[in-house]
Amino acid sequence: PDTTTVSQYGVMRIAGYLLSELAQRYGTPLYIFDRATIINACQHYQEAFRQYYHASSVRIIYAAKAYLSPLIARTMAEQGMGLDVVSGGELSVAHHAGFPMENVSFHGNNKREDELYLALQLGVGRIVLDNWSELERLTRIAQETKKTPHVLLRIAPDVETDTHRYLQTGHAASKFGFPLNNGEAKAAIHAVLQEGRLHLAGLHAHTGTMLRETRPYEECLERLLDLATEVYEETGWWPEEVSPGGGWGIETADGVEVPGVYMLAQALQQTMERRLADNAALPVPTLIIEPGRSIIARAGVTLYRVGARKPTPGGITYLFVDGGMADNIRPALYGAHYTALPVEQLATPGEEVCISGRYCESGDMLIERVVLPQMREGDLLLLPTTGAYCLPMASNYNLVPRPAVILIDEQQVWQMERRETYTDLLMRYTE
Ligand code: LLP
Repeated sequence: PDTTTVSQYGVMRIAGYLLSELAQRYGTPLYIFDRATIINACQHYQEAFRQYYHASSVRIIYAAKAYLSPLIARTMAEQGMGLDVVSGGELSVAHHAGFPMENVSFHGNNKREDELYLALQLGVGRIVLDNWSELERLTRIAQETKKTPHVLLRIAPDVETDTHRYLQTGHAASKFGFPLNNGEAKAAIHAVLQEGRLHLAGLHAHTGTMLRETRPYEECLERLLDLATEVYEETGWWPEEVSPGGGWGIETADGVEVPGVYMLAQALQQTMERRLADNAALPVPTLIIEPGRSIIARAGVTLYRVGARKPTPGGITYLFVDGGMADNIRPALYGAHYTALPVEQLATPGEEVCISGRYCESGDMLIERVVLPQMREGDLLLLPTTGAYCLPMASNYNLVPRPAVILIDEQQVWQMERRETYTDLLMRYTE
């Protein structure tokens, strides 16, 4: 036998399950979420923020766009988290899961009329309005349905962030929010107050995602509180809640360190205290924080099976896996860095390879360069930290069925999404 590929130690487990057995049972590519890691992340956030805030003055809302399924929604509810949704689809999953609607915030920059009706009908706790059209649309619907939705206005606070261009959302030219620095934000607050149809609960901003410093959050919160103070002096309105959004980063294969979440909690508390020192008589607004990635990314891994190893005369050796850009577009779209591990410990010499997918694109690379023991057809490869924004952005490119998704803990495996079949694909065609 070719002993060079016989595994030496041979096992890699998550929550006690052999990954090779999970791959056998559910097929590959397979997305695996570890329940304990999700719960830890929620508790970690809550503990960090409760060091600096009373439990009643901070709300932590999971940004469902990072990954949502009914079971994840129920897990978030059990952990006392709120939920941030951005579409009728996400809202429907939350509703189907029995998520308490009063703890749901409905975000987005172009919510359709039917989505706003649905949100009101289901009794969503907060609607975050992005622009004048949305504001008018919701006001009209509130009038018609005789409801008084609680809203936050999303502000573009003109804060720069040190993250990929596609992941910045708080700058002056951002597509999101009422611009602060041309007076529109203030005008929108006045308009809501004057109209009186909507209950203006507070102000919201989100400056970007994959942030690794507290500065943008501090600047953002300062600007929201300064705006609120000006409006207070003009009208007597004061926010019940303020939110600098989500966006806290995670450590990835690029090796940049991310400070602990408690640093964020501390920075926000200090900013709030400093900014409100002159308004001591006013109630401190509830802080709302909306983490997505930093709750779910580390809990998810992807298992792929190697289909071929192809050295090229151009010097690159490819390792082809059975998934790729359709289940994880992030490397192609943002230059995101991942690393990979062979599931079985191989005694082969190390080599530099490019982990490439099965899709008909040269840009279909999950990892451009990584050193791995030489792998061959049939071996299993694991990509850690793929829990956020991979599956939600997955497509059926090349008409490849989307992978199965499981959640595991030491007692149980839940199949959250079954692998798509050719029948699923065919069902969408009507001619
Ligand atoms: N709140 C708001 C208003 C947001 O727009 C977002 C993310 C979050 C919270 C959660 O951000 P997080 O904590 O997950 O960073 N597809 C991109 C990420 C887009 C995030 C959009 N908004 C990616 O794969 O990196």
